[in-house]
Amino acid sequence: MTESSNTLTLGYDLEYWKNFGIKKEINVDISPRTNSHILLSGMSGSGKSFAEFGLLTKLILADPSGEYYFADYKADDMFECLRGTPRYRSFKQTTELLEIVHNRLNDRMSGKDKTRHPITFIWDEYMANILALMNEDKTRAKKVMNDVSEILLMGRSKSIRLVCSCQRPDAVAFPVGSRLNYGIVIILGVGKSIYEMLMPDHLEQIKKKEFNRGEGAVLLQSADLHFIKIGQVNDMERIKEICIEALSKPIDGGEA
Ligand SMILES: Nc1ncnc2c1ncn2[C@@H]1O[C@H](COP(=O)(O)OP(=O)(O)O)[C@@H](O)[C@H]1O
Ligand SMILES: [Mg+2]
Repeated sequence: MTESSNTLTLGYDLEYWKNFGIKKEINVDISPRTNSHILLSGMSGSGKSFAEFGLLTKLILADPSGEYYFADYKADDMFECLRGTPRYRSFKQTTELLEIVHNRLNDRMSGKDKTRHPITFIWDEYMANILALMNEDKTRAKKVMNDVSEILLMGRSKSIRLVCSCQRPDAVAFPVGSRLNYGIVIILGVGKSIYEMLMPDHLEQIKKKEFNRGEGAVLLQSADLHFIKIGQVNDMERIKEICIEALSKPIDGGEA
């Protein structure tokens, strides 16, 4: 058995970083009882994909016995090293992963699957993916959103977590109330309308701040606001190695 941790470091406290040069971690509880679905938003170039790469790595390190799936709608160059691994899909294939994860949820709900190791599904550029699906096939897009909603609503009790990134989480791809199902909401960079959309009760505090790439705000459990700095990575090769290994596991097998 590998040891697992229930704490995830999202990044560093921006104020401490800027004012004192101190790296004070912003840690969140990722134990199954806590809502640890993550919504990551921000304009293009704000550092979402980079942050996601780091989050995936930290989640894997927190629980190497977990299952990790990565959907990269835009086939970002940053994730090129993951291409070809069985648990990574891009462009038209992203929904195959959703189907796998949604089936896992059904199996855990029905009792067929009694395992409870964490299953994490990361979906980069979710909004763009949904909009494209809507243009292609509205019924299918609706089914996809429905499956996502079920993972958000019921995944927590079954240790299934969604990490979803998009530029702006518009209501079309986030049906009523579904944004509230993310226990961890991160916005990076500038983008007033995104802050208005996701953190309406904290605008007074937010508007006094300036955010560069990889900096922004995080709202925990709809209540607890922090300003965050994602920070640079010293060893990108190591990050790639960890992610490639986790995503290389075959779809059926290798799990506890
Ligand atoms: N925290 C960071 N530290 C250093 N470089 C970063 C950071 N975040 C992003 N970058 C760099 O900025 C560029 C854009 O970031 P990216 O994550 O692709 O943005 P987005 O996904 O929001 O469009 C990338 O080349 C990335 O390497
Ligand atoms: Mg990106």
